[in-house]
Amino acid sequence: MDTYNVLLIGAGGREHAIAWKLAQSEKLGQLFIAPGNPGTALYGKNVKLDVNDFEAVADFVNKSGVELVVVGPEDPLVNGITNFLRDRNIAVFGPEKNAARLEGSKEFAKEFMLKYNIPTADFAVFGSMDYDDALKFISLKDTYPIVLKADGLAAGKGVFICNSEEEVKERLLSIKKDKTLSEAASRLVVEEFMEGEEVSVFVISDGHTSHILHYAQDHKRIGDGDTGLNTGGMGAYSPAPVLNDELLEQIQLEIIDPTITGMQLEESAYTGILYVGLMITEDGPKVVEYNCRFGDPECQVILPSLNNDLLDLMIASTEQRLDEKSIQIDDKYRCCVVLASEGYPQKYEKRKVISGLNDIDDALIFHAGTAQIDGKIVSNGGRVLNVVSSGKTLRGAIDNTYDAVKKISFENCYYRKDIGHKGLKRVSNL
Ligand code: AMP
Ligand code: GLY
Repeated sequence: MDTYNVLLIGAGGREHAIAWKLAQSEKLGQLFIAPGNPGTALYGKNVKLDVNDFEAVADFVNKSGVELVVVGPEDPLVNGITNFLRDRNIAVFGPEKNAARLEGSKEFAKEFMLKYNIPTADFAVFGSMDYDDALKFISLKDTYPIVLKADGLAAGKGVFICNSEEEVKERLLSIKKDKTLSEAASRLVVEEFMEGEEVSVFVISDGHTSHILHYAQDHKRIGDGDTGLNTGGMGAYSPAPVLNDELLEQIQLEIIDPTITGMQLEESAYTGILYVGLMITEDGPKVVEYNCRFGDPECQVILPSLNNDLLDLMIASTEQRLDEKSIQIDDKYRCCVVLASEGYPQKYEKRKVISGLNDIDDALIFHAGTAQIDGKIVSNGGRVLNVVSSGKTLRGAIDNTYDAVKKISFENCYYRKDIGHKGLKRVSNL
């Protein structure tokens, strides 16, 4: 059988989960991860590469006999790593720059959905010089809450839900002043607030054929009960009972199929993973956002549920052969709890020694912000570790995960105690 040497780009919990899954493939030759983390090092060789230096990535690929590059995070995709490498005849799993605009530009995504009749919140777009017009538009509309969104990538910090005109004024002023947002907010999307429950659906596409892999619910806020600041995600569970087969079929027909067909018509065929963030409203599912990659931490619950060989699917995607594949998901629930450094998503301390990692036998541990120093694993970021376990029921998966969480410790460790709370409520109401 042919084997493939793979370079995986990224360093988070998502990439540890991808490395873990790729390592189970009979098709895997050598695995390199750039830059990786102490978790990915268990499955391949971590290499020090600046992943935004595409020339350096191409040099490494050619020198090391890499046959497929798998891109984890959005930045290199939005900046065109796939085009750069494909122009040099290197196979890449991940969308090209024009397709990654679905995540890279909210204005593009909203105009695209409008054009192809894909359900989403009503919106209007304003330039940075037109904030007064934006304010006028909002006060005429006079319905709150209202959502303000920076057009470009803002690392999860570009969305503001405002409850009054005063709040809108304050926000517009602070966006203008915030230098870290100035580029992303050079265009501003004003959007209707959607009431409902959120869920993320993950799709694999080869540009023509697409399959739903699975779906999960994230927990974006730092505090229990979905309170406090927004984060990259504090935990996830899958499958989320907010969806059922009927809704999934509706999502496939009304959202995923027109997205894949629409991107073909825009000459921006979408290949790789498409993450569709949805709000399940009274009027049915509507798109909150598209992302051009796996979610983190959603990936950590999706991949353990997947019975397919991930590398085989990725190769089929790059070779436009996804029509030959069908997706096999097991029948378990999974839960992921993120262990973070106290203070995240603001200031936090690093270099805290982590203990208990070797005491875990019935859960998966995916590293995110960790480092190995003098043979010890220490914290090295805001989100430090992901603990994932499974169960026949959602309750079982959650309990098994928290049992494992309790065995791990480091100074100033913080985690949410209520991952899966919306799912549990739905299950108990059945
Ligand atoms: P985004 O980066 O677009 O996913 O927005 C971040 C978060 O803001 C989403 O996950 C939602 O929780 C919330 N959000 C964004 N847009 C809306 C909307 N139109 N209505 C309600 N909540 C929203
Ligand atoms: N967990 C949300 C994201 O990956 O964007």
